[in-house]
Amino acid sequence: MTRHFLRDDDITPAEQAEILDLAERLKQDRWAVKPLAGPQTVAVIFDKSSTRTRVSFAVGIADLGGSPLIISTASSQLGGKETPSDTARVLERMVSAIVWRTYGQAGLEEMAAGTTVPVVNALSDDFHPCQLLADLLTIREHKGDLAGLTVTFLGDGASNMAQSYVLAGVTAGMHVRVASPEEFAPAASVVADADRIADSTGGSVTLYTDAAEAAAGADVVVTDTWVSMGKEDEKAHRVATFGAYRVDRELMSLAASDAVFMHCLPADRGYEVTADVIDGEQSIIWDEAENRLHAQKALLVWLLERKDA
Ligand code: CP
Ligand code: NVA
Repeated sequence: MTRHFLRDDDITPAEQAEILDLAERLKQDRWAVKPLAGPQTVAVIFDKSSTRTRVSFAVGIADLGGSPLIISTASSQLGGKETPSDTARVLERMVSAIVWRTYGQAGLEEMAAGTTVPVVNALSDDFHPCQLLADLLTIREHKGDLAGLTVTFLGDGASNMAQSYVLAGVTAGMHVRVASPEEFAPAASVVADADRIADSTGGSVTLYTDAAEAAAGADVVVTDTWVSMGKEDEKAHRVATFGAYRVDRELMSLAASDAVFMHCLPADRGYEVTADVIDGEQSIIWDEAENRLHAQKALLVWLLERKDA
């Protein structure tokens, strides 16, 4: 049955581990997986800007013997004259999978419901699940087994990155802490979904408003921009609100002595993180960026193996 990857909990804990294992193998040997059978064009559509996602999907699809077709929404009919569902009906006649960076989660759901090819969320306002596969791969490399580790996300708890950490982290059996102002807490429905997953994985999700309390003893400290794409009009309010959640040396000193710092990038040095932390020795951001390639190759192979004939 065709599977889609629209949110981090679209895969089970065992499936997440399987994809991460394959990603690890592909990182050790970039050509470990034979080229995908037959002509495999993958459409990669962008409603928002991107560097890492665009490049890692393009390179990863080419590595697998496929052809990436990068589409900018502004120059397509999608979002203007044509619905996600009609677009999907057309694309599925020609491509093997659809990767889409967009705003609302509802559009992704509509596209997935209307097509027989796998649809992958390359970032929406609510989730960034491909980034989380890369982050989990990176944490595994630096810290070993994910289950039982404590990861603290600071800043915009309602953002795609925070909400993906909540879902993907508990799927991996991690203890996920999110520290944010109350008005920027993760959605209650996302926390409830994570709580249900945590029952079977032993993970947990805990919300904080106090940054220091959330950082205490953490194995991994994560942050992201305070002004996600699409939120530019709120910049003044956000900068005024998130100051207490900036990751600086003092905050890092509260985490475990061997804690690592992560950021999906792009970063605003001096806002969500100070330069001495993001460019310091605890930072593993460049491994994290590289791992987009390996994680997404594994995801595509896994999804295409399950695609309806
Ligand atoms: N982290 C990430 O998704 O980066 P891009 O916006 O450059 O794709
Ligand atoms: N939260 C950020 C992630 C960028 C990769 C955004 O949505 O802009």
